[in-house]
Amino acid sequence: MKIKAIIPAAGFGTRFLPTTKSVPKELLPIVDKPAIQYVVEEGINSGIKDFVMVTSKNKKAIEDHFDNFSELETILKNHKNESLLEISQIIEKSNFLFIRQREQLGLGHAIWTARSAFNDEHVAVFLPDDIFTCEIPAMAQLIKIATQEKCNVIAVQEVPKEDVSRYGIIDVRRQLSPNLFHVKDLIEKPAINKAPSNLAIIGRYVLSPNIFSSLDNLQFGAGGEVQLTDGIQNLLLSGEKVFAYKVQGQRFDAGTIFGWLKTNIEFALKHPKYSKDTIEYLSMLDKEFLIMQSKADALKKRVTKLSF
Ligand code: UTP
Repeated sequence: MKIKAIIPAAGFGTRFLPTTKSVPKELLPIVDKPAIQYVVEEGINSGIKDFVMVTSKNKKAIEDHFDNFSELETILKNHKNESLLEISQIIEKSNFLFIRQREQLGLGHAIWTARSAFNDEHVAVFLPDDIFTCEIPAMAQLIKIATQEKCNVIAVQEVPKEDVSRYGIIDVRRQLSPNLFHVKDLIEKPAINKAPSNLAIIGRYVLSPNIFSSLDNLQFGAGGEVQLTDGIQNLLLSGEKVFAYKVQGQRFDAGTIFGWLKTNIEFALKHPKYSKDTIEYLSMLDKEFLIMQSKADALKKRVTKLSF
């Protein structure tokens, strides 16, 4: 299957304001490298070479991150810097194309903006807020199904019922195996009582090249934005097969401040260089917390006694 990636990164990132006033959300670090670098690494490990990044004003630093920095490389020549070497290898192995989304009209519009970079290749969409740790890279899992079944594939995850209105939710035509579903319909951010399942669309898709024409002339949908789910719905209406797959592995949502904090803690706990210090620090906090809690409990008991 011929395939190219789109990484939409043109959004305002309002949940991270004021930081995102000048710093692209996609470059916020997860321990020792920017979030978007994990996503590109997942793409490379899934066999993808071509990355189309949709960016906007104030996002030029993303272009710089995926470009050589010869002055710095010269300065560091004598002290081998592994982190710099890692990103240099990514740059060498891959092709990056940056396309500007002039108005932030939604995810569907961002994908549509990248149409001129595609001929007949399939489209691997990576939302850079979602970071996965999987034995087989998340996108590779989707590509395998898309190739075998000759269909569009979207990644899904079960979410608590009270969270369905934060996501696009799928309506299942048929469950094909414990983790694979034939999709009947998709509904963007449904009300809790209108959600046809609790299977939420998460940030990875493999779509046929017809997704671009499916997004042509699309009206503004949920939240006043051009929604990618509406474009996929048009693929369904035109008779294309859409499957949903529960990705095998762990997903981290780094798109909110607390989600980003949790992702950092989890990645630090697994990092060969930082795990020891992180464990020590967390257990020290835990001890302090237990002491504080027992002091608070003792105080509560005293107050209760006094009130009798
Ligand atoms: P989000 O819904 O997370 O929006 O977009 P956002 O702007 O990044 O963040 P908040 O909600 O304001 O905090 C999902 C992905 O789609 C991209 C974003 O950059 C993000 O990677 N996107 C969204 C675009 O590229 N263009 C858009 O018009 C909207």
